[in-house]
Amino acid sequence: MHISCFTQFSNMKNLDGKNTQQNSSRKLLLLALILVLLTIIPLCMLTSSHLPQSSPNINRSSLKRIKSEKQCDVYSGKWVPYPKGPYYTNATCHLIIDQQNCMKSGRQDTEFMKWRWKPYECELSLFDANQFLELVRGKSMAFVGDSVGRNQMQSLLCLLGKVVYPQDLSYKYTSDTNSKHYFYADYKFNLATLWSPFLVKTADADPSGHSFNSLMNLYLDEADEAWVSQIERFDYVIISAGQWFFRPLVYYKNRKVVGCHICHNKNITAVSKYYGYKMAFRTAFQTLIRLRNYKGITILRTFSPAHFENGAWNEGGNCARTRPFTSQEMKLDGYILDFYLTQVEELRKAEKQARRKGLKFTSLNTTEAMLLRPDGHPNHSGRSPHGNSSAADCVHWCLPGPIDTWNEFLFYVLKQEG
Ligand SMILES: *[C@@H]1O[C@H](CO)[C@@H](O)[C@H](O)[C@H]1NC(C)=O
Ligand SMILES: *[C@@H]1O[C@H](CO)[C@@H](O)[C@H](O)[C@H]1NC(C)=O
Ligand SMILES: *[C@@H]1O[C@H](CO)[C@@H](O)[C@H](O)[C@H]1NC(C)=O
Ligand SMILES: *[C@@H]1O[C@H](CO)[C@@H](O)[C@H](O)[C@H]1NC(C)=O
Ligand SMILES: *[C@@H]1O[C@H](CO)[C@@H](O)[C@H](O)[C@H]1NC(C)=O
Repeated sequence: MHISCFTQFSNMKNLDGKNTQQNSSRKLLLLALILVLLTIIPLCMLTSSHLPQSSPNINRSSLKRIKSEKQCDVYSGKWVPYPKGPYYTNATCHLIIDQQNCMKSGRQDTEFMKWRWKPYECELSLFDANQFLELVRGKSMAFVGDSVGRNQMQSLLCLLGKVVYPQDLSYKYTSDTNSKHYFYADYKFNLATLWSPFLVKTADADPSGHSFNSLMNLYLDEADEAWVSQIERFDYVIISAGQWFFRPLVYYKNRKVVGCHICHNKNITAVSKYYGYKMAFRTAFQTLIRLRNYKGITILRTFSPAHFENGAWNEGGNCARTRPFTSQEMKLDGYILDFYLTQVEELRKAEKQARRKGLKFTSLNTTEAMLLRPDGHPNHSGRSPHGNSSAADCVHWCLPGPIDTWNEFLFYVLKQEG
């Protein structure tokens, strides 16, 4: 253990040495990335640019303090080569959907499947499907959120597929094709994904109907019944939200308009997307704390970064990289850090309240690790999350791929709780 930590650190020094030589080309890379981000962000903020953007009110120094409190922070580390490759392939797991089946869709490079997350101060165990299934025997687990949340469940289906595949009982529970319910009979384990990309109640508000970038109303103080009505029977709830908060949104509280995000209506006060994001998590967490029969463990899976380069998603942007970044090449900052801290701050508040009620809230801090994986997205091998087949998907993650690590983190958390 100590020896392997030591070699880890000497490896880091070697990387540092290499870095100085490649510094100038990396600076160029970073510059290009920053330019891309600068083009994406103003797009989101265009209409409200004349109004002050309320920046999230968060204390960045608390980040460091929290990290040093833990003996080993498994979320702080780097990607190291793992020639043995992935747990499964598109040939051994038959549940990979086409959008995430990058090999089937013609992706040529395979190196992106051959990395493992190495925490600086300890080891992250390999995913053990048998042990995982024993840990969740007789239990139920729900992923609440959008298609990236579902992406993690799909990875879990393949990881567990080494031992057993579930029955698909979706038809019994829901008519919403975005939600899924599976049952592992031998383990009496229920696994579901509940579709709720905003976590709170929504309504389409665009005169021209729903599309990938249409205007929607968000009722920030009303949790979405799609998950609330079902959640009490779950023992583990993995909750997340992300990209949907970039679209034009009108925010409501108490059924009254309180502001909007790029809604093109001068009569409504413009507020930042962080406001909607913050309130959605607050409402979701408060709802879980208040539900009479909810006894589950709530796990926030933190913001999953997209990696568009050479333009935004609707400007021909893509994600063409075939290797991870090192943490020297890519730092957690800008809007990704702000989304991350916004939700973590809400989690922190909820955690305290929940504890008083005997409820456990925790997190899978995937943001930093995934920031370093521009190579893990379908790019053009898949289908666009925006329904535009000519646009690249740099939001979801290929299966197999780095998203399998989220379930190594989940396995780690379950072992801690168990
Ligand atoms: C798996 O990927 C290969 C390409 O690597 C492709 O030829 C094959 O059709 C795919 N099979 C399935 C079942 O997706
Ligand atoms: C803004 O309010 C004014 C006055 O009430 C109204 O005439 C106008 O139609 C409103 N504009 C929009 C875009 O709602
Ligand atoms: C990603 O798509 C771009 C075209 O938009 C292409 O040039 C590049 O090779 C692709 N990269 C991968 C890894 O698929
Ligand atoms: C990371 O996750 C751990 C375990 O859930 C949590 O205690 C810690 O506060 C998290 N760190 C941050 C910065 O969110
Ligand atoms: C689809 O994406 C392409 C670029 O990838 C863009 O040129 C085109 O305008 C997009 N179409 C729609 C309907 O957004």
